[in-house]
Amino acid sequence: MNNVKNLLSFIDRSPTAFHATANLCAELEASGRTRLDEGGAWKLEPGRGYFVTRNTSSVIAFDIPSGEADSFRIIAAHSDSPTFKIKENAELSVRGKYTKLNVERYGGMLFSTWFDRPLSVAGRILVRTEGGMEARLIDVDRDLLVIPNVAIHMNREINDGFKYNAQTDLMPLFGDGEAKGKFRALIAETAGVPEDDLLGCDLYLYPRVTGRVMGREDEYVLSPRLDDLECAYSGLAAFLAAEKPEKGVNMLCVFDNEEVGSGTKQGADSTFLYDVMQRIFIALGKTQEDAYRAAAASFMLSADNAHAVHPNHPEKTDEENCVYMNEGIVIKFNANQRYTTDGVSSALFHKLLKDAGIPCQHFANRSDVLGGGTLGNISGSHVSINTLDIGLAQLAMHSCVETAGSRDVDYMINGMKAFYNARISVGRDGEFGIK
Ligand code: CO
Repeated sequence: MNNVKNLLSFIDRSPTAFHATANLCAELEASGRTRLDEGGAWKLEPGRGYFVTRNTSSVIAFDIPSGEADSFRIIAAHSDSPTFKIKENAELSVRGKYTKLNVERYGGMLFSTWFDRPLSVAGRILVRTEGGMEARLIDVDRDLLVIPNVAIHMNREINDGFKYNAQTDLMPLFGDGEAKGKFRALIAETAGVPEDDLLGCDLYLYPRVTGRVMGREDEYVLSPRLDDLECAYSGLAAFLAAEKPEKGVNMLCVFDNEEVGSGTKQGADSTFLYDVMQRIFIALGKTQEDAYRAAAASFMLSADNAHAVHPNHPEKTDEENCVYMNEGIVIKFNANQRYTTDGVSSALFHKLLKDAGIPCQHFANRSDVLGGGTLGNISGSHVSINTLDIGLAQLAMHSCVETAGSRDVDYMINGMKAFYNARISVGRDGEFGIK
């Protein structure tokens, strides 16, 4: 249960991708890993660990082996979750009596889950400094906003299904008429800077809900942002707990912007991972051929949560290739390779899990359902290595409060640790050594 407690605390302290990244960095730093900057020169020493961020919302950590850096064992997850972003002109007035915040959706959330609950604002601001400007985290951290439902007396048909309009139905109430023109001041005051020094912001809503353990035997966790901070946190815990590698580089990547297609400079569909791998080779004095050989011997786990069978709608999932909470790590398959798992990567991971005594289960969408994509196939277009899509089973994905299995957290951490501790080598194409 200790890992569950730490996971929920991590999520609670991570209302946005910026906060998640900062919290990951703090733990990496506390573990003795050295922070690098993409703008600086890299001197890397065998046997030491490092991490680097991009946009302060994505992070890549890696441990250089004491011996040969002949391969990479990579775990990838994402730092962002569906939410609402506050527009530059942040306020809307209603008859001079109400002030609402003007928001647009970030990613594909379940709208109805955001209603009638206390919300707050967090994100990143750019603050003027003597020599220029700097990014800072901000979290208003109090009950500030609500998106109120329309009373049933004003819409008797709402329970028969309702089509929400993002411009009219989803604007959160910020205050009375007097609140107009006060939002920027509130942000500046929270940051402790003069309003004039507030040069830019990326601000998002988050629900004021702390994660909790529940169910008859405490078998479930109920928390915001389980997709995908559960995998990001598990990846960190495994990375920190893994043995110091003798051969091969252990790497943890947590990318921003998965929920909006990953196509940003810091997303999985960027050169961030490729750039870091290249720079490791340059810093270690390796040749281009060494880099190609290492790529051929590398594996990636792309970790993002999966859909558990729904208690009220078991028919939504395939009858056999379906997964349940607390029954272990989910390996995801898709014939059209929206999930990257294939015979090779699943065989390798099965062997590792079996040897470590960790349960796993198999997921494929119903054949008449398209399903969602994730990081693996996107990242693979930049760094082409053997990849496996995994996750943990959960309910209500993209609700602002999701449900997962409390026993699965240990399974994931231990499974990822077994992956980091594995020694994989390649022979001819199709031949692998696994220790
Ligand atoms: Co996800």
